[in-house]
Amino acid sequence: MTDIQGKTGRKKVLLGITGGVAAYKAAELVRRLGDRGIEVHVVMTEAACGFITPATLQALSGHPVYTDMWDGRIANGMPHIELSRDKDAIIIAPATADFIAKCVHGLADDLLSTLCLARDCPLIVAPAMNRQMWEHPATQRNVAQLRRDGVTLLGPDSGDQACGETGMGRMLEADELAEAVSAFLEPKILAGKRLLMTAGPTFEPIDAVRGITNRSSGKMGYALARAAIAAGAEVTLVSGPVSLAAPAGVRIERVQTAAEMFEAVKKHAAKADIFIGVAAVADYRVSKPRQHKIKKTDESALTLSFVPNPDILGWVASRPKPPFCVGFAAESRNLDAYADEKRRRKNVKLMIANLAQDAIGADDNEVSLLDDAGTHRLPRAPKDIVARQIITHIAGLISRKTRTPR
Ligand code: CTP
Repeated sequence: MTDIQGKTGRKKVLLGITGGVAAYKAAELVRRLGDRGIEVHVVMTEAACGFITPATLQALSGHPVYTDMWDGRIANGMPHIELSRDKDAIIIAPATADFIAKCVHGLADDLLSTLCLARDCPLIVAPAMNRQMWEHPATQRNVAQLRRDGVTLLGPDSGDQACGETGMGRMLEADELAEAVSAFLEPKILAGKRLLMTAGPTFEPIDAVRGITNRSSGKMGYALARAAIAAGAEVTLVSGPVSLAAPAGVRIERVQTAAEMFEAVKKHAAKADIFIGVAAVADYRVSKPRQHKIKKTDESALTLSFVPNPDILGWVASRPKPPFCVGFAAESRNLDAYADEKRRRKNVKLMIANLAQDAIGADDNEVSLLDDAGTHRLPRAPKDIVARQIITHIAGLISRKTRTPR
């Protein structure tokens, strides 16, 4: 796994847990942050220890858990300063109404509240409380003040609550929080860039109920969209039919056919700084799809005739002032040779090659990046991590291009 680089190499966060039922989700959050290459150190309030034990958090984070201002394990006797100094952020999850109120007023009567006051890194807060507590004017005033103070709030969400009521105040799920924290920590290497991309398969109808498609889950494309958003890009995603939720912050256009995908891309291409074609576009469509369902006949074979679909990536790359174009080549053999031939033929700056049989539907991927400088292999990793590495590579190529003297 590749780790996100932070203040001192790998990104490190301090996870503060306060006393709410949602403290159980903090255990999962430690794991999910770890999955994203983020090192987690835990501090708990006394009340949090009534919901979940420090031993659990120590085992999951692999680091000692601190709860006390007077903990003798910190050499200079000042855990309220020392514990946050090498951290890239403090995350409070769950944050109770009481703890939020303390932060707003600068109270510092235990280790975690003092750490928040003495910090020199960003503070991220994930509220969790009963809906009445959340909606109370005092809490709303406090939350507004926290935002004004530059604190980032993640959630809360609405839904079933531990108390049996339903409404606003539920802490975000661990995976959502980990994703948002990871995005927050990502360097904004694509700030100000407009990225247009395609993802997923296309579906080409044969008749009212049937069609042909390419096998593609959309996972790689959606992971790239998330990574680009985290890197500060403005992302427009033209997506074929997939069963994935739209990444937060992405402008999404959902399409079915290659022709629809092409129209959507044409609409946005002129404004794009970068175009990434991740979609598995069907190369052909049925020339005359039937309006009604074709009935089965035993006697005669069924013959369909096809016409080629437009090459969307090829069209974008051949515009007079093309954006920085990136293609994906999913091959079943001769990976590098076919991918490089495709890169030259489509005239794109970067071609990302993967073995189709390895990548389709999987959560991991192993890719090679082919550009003018040669072939760079990335180790097999979860698609989110591969996506971040691809975005970093693209940002590097773009900044090199901008720096090239004319
Ligand atoms: N692509 C596209 N429009 C198409 C076909 C492909 O935009 N009609 C894009 C894909 O999104 C991908 C790249 O082109 O980024 C390569 O796709 P691929 O299907 O592998 O290439 P083809 O040109 O179709 O080559 P072949 O089918 O011969 O392997």
